Amino acid sequence: MNQVPLFNSIDEFSVWRNNLSGTVGFVPTLGGIHDGHLSLIKSSILSCDYTIVSIFLNPLQFNKNEDLDTYPANLNEDLSKMNSLNVSAVFAPNQSNFISKNSSVFVNETILSNCIEGQKRPDFFSGVLTIVSKLFNVVKPTHSFFGKKDPQQLLIIKKLCENLNYNIKIVACDTVREKSGLAMSSRNRYLTKYEKESAAVIFLALTKAKLLLQKNTQLNIVKQEMKKILLSKPNIKIDYISFSNTLNLKEVHSFKNNQILISIAVFCGKTRLIDSFFFPDF
Ligand code: PAJ
Repeated sequence: MNQVPLFNSIDEFSVWRNNLSGTVGFVPTLGGIHDGHLSLIKSSILSCDYTIVSIFLNPLQFNKNEDLDTYPANLNEDLSKMNSLNVSAVFAPNQSNFISKNSSVFVNETILSNCIEGQKRPDFFSGVLTIVSKLFNVVKPTHSFFGKKDPQQLLIIKKLCENLNYNIKIVACDTVREKSGLAMSSRNRYLTKYEKESAAVIFLALTKAKLLLQKNTQLNIVKQEMKKILLSKPNIKIDYISFSNTLNLKEVHSFKNNQILISIAVFCGKTRLIDSFFFPDF
């Protein structure tokens, strides 16, 4: 099995990158590589001449009560998961080199970021956009792959490219799930076996919602049904269930022909989990 070339230095990476010609697919990650990340990487390998994966645990997108210090990522394990794939390079800059202590310029989005996850995590999307912009500037991809697992992030990154003229094709990839339906996530490693079993209700609630929406059921009834399913497990606490218009992410209370995003955030024990689907999907 080949070792994936690893770059920690921005300068060395740039010299290597500037010698590539052809399409360059880019998959940014926080690390803690799992099959969800691998599916993005495989999509890139299938459609691009080169595939670059970044592993950077971005402190700008964690608030002080979150799990930056314990985030379940290990560089050697991550690299070994990629060894059997044809990844061209992994870019894993050092934190202190990549984010200067006296940074005073940040990227902000002012409409979509204030909704859904943004209401719960006020600085999160600015942290994501700032780091993704920096990564785009260094990696200079032609394509970049993002998961529908984080739909709001996906839509905001598309907006970033439109508004700041990044000539990058953003490719949306389907959510990869465990057999139980639980969406794969690095944070699933925090769950006990019992919690993991309970967390499968998130997918059941989403599946039920999809069925009801196909029958044109009113959104307040859909929500009640979702709540019932989620709360059937005593260790699940609902943070929110949201129905939003995918154009502006504003909450909707009814819908006709427009596309909506159905999102769930719950606490399963102490672990916060999110999942969602677009209706209709794209
Ligand atoms: P991270 O959570 O590591 O996710 C990296 C990419 O993998 C994101 O595009 C995410 O949507 C996708 N992903 C995660 N779980 C998935 C699953 N089960 N199925 C399909 N795709 C999945 O998202 C981030 O990192 C960061 O915010 C980042 C973009 C790297 C900026 O720091």
